[in-house]
Amino acid sequence: MKKVLITGGTGLLGANLLLDFQNKFSLSSIQLEGRVNFPVEKQASLNLCNKEKTKQFVKELKPDAIVHTAALVNIDYCESHRDEAFKVNAEATANIAEAAEEAGAKMIFVSTDSVFNGKTGNYREEGSTNPANVYAESKLEGEKLALEKNSNCVVARTSIYGWNAQAKQSLSEWMYNGLKEGKEIKFFEDVFFSPILVNNFGRAIAEIIENEFTGVLNVAGSQRISKLEFGRTLADVFGFGKEKIVASSILDSELAAKRPLDASLNVEKAKKILETELLDAKAGLEEKKLLLEKGFVEKLRRGVDL
Ligand SMILES: NC(=O)c1ccc[n+]([C@@H]2O[C@H](COP(=O)([O-])OP(=O)(O)OC[C@H]3O[C@@H](n4cnc5c(N)ncnc54)[C@H](OP(=O)(O)O)[C@@H]3O)[C@@H](O)[C@H]2O)c1
Repeated sequence: MKKVLITGGTGLLGANLLLDFQNKFSLSSIQLEGRVNFPVEKQASLNLCNKEKTKQFVKELKPDAIVHTAALVNIDYCESHRDEAFKVNAEATANIAEAAEEAGAKMIFVSTDSVFNGKTGNYREEGSTNPANVYAESKLEGEKLALEKNSNCVVARTSIYGWNAQAKQSLSEWMYNGLKEGKEIKFFEDVFFSPILVNNFGRAIAEIIENEFTGVLNVAGSQRISKLEFGRTLADVFGFGKEKIVASSILDSELAAKRPLDASLNVEKAKKILETELLDAKAGLEEKKLLLEKGFVEKLRRGVDL
């Protein structure tokens, strides 16, 4: 069984990977402050900005692969904390990529669709990047450093949604909770993306850990969809009424950081490389519902202590 280190084990993506990968890999985890209760070989609460501690942990563990999900993801916070965003999303990525190189481990850096400015959408891997905000700039710098420091590196660009282990809400949970409570919610009709359920993303990552692919890969949902349509699909799948869904425009919102209007990703390359089926929004949301029904969310929440 391969040894896999997940950074950001208490996060939305990291916790789902730690639960989904239980029988596939021997797992270890790094997070900033919390702890995980999932069965792991080794774990540490350490700041990946600390190069020496990061390298020491990886040197002792000797993983076959590192999935680097840890990041500062709050887009509006990053906008007013530029130095911190670059420290965590770029510098710490260089640290872990260097540590992986020295240990002979494959490095998988989870990046974002936001590296594109969102003017055209349907972006291919080689499309020119032009970040619209500080978060995306720092992630793009992280991509460059990861590829530079690690000779066996994959940059997986994505737009994820799923169940959180922590009390905080991802986009789909915010939609889910709002619709469940019957609140009026405004969904953007002019923002497009290609969302992928974290667990579907995880199946693709498991394949990437095992295969020979290196370089940049879009690992996203197979469908370009507006946030409004995504919200309507979620309501359909979970059986919530749609009368409280209000179409709105991002141009009328007061977000601190600029967002790309159409950050949809072209997944043709991933479809050729991977056997994992990349689901559309409806199929992904149906799997999300099934996870709730079979007790996955409770297991996920028990897996993380903060
Ligand atoms: N969520 C999205 O919509 C989205 C979309 C596209 C791409 N992505 C990318 O997907 C990845 C995962 O995102 P996510 O939503 O799962 O993030 P998240 O829920 O905010 O989790 C972030 C994780 O990183 C850890 N962390 C933060 N700073 C750290 C540091 N300096 N040292 C060590 N650990 C640190 C946190 O630890 P603590 O819990 O202990 O603080 C937490 O485990 C990120 O790389 C993000 O850029 C996310």
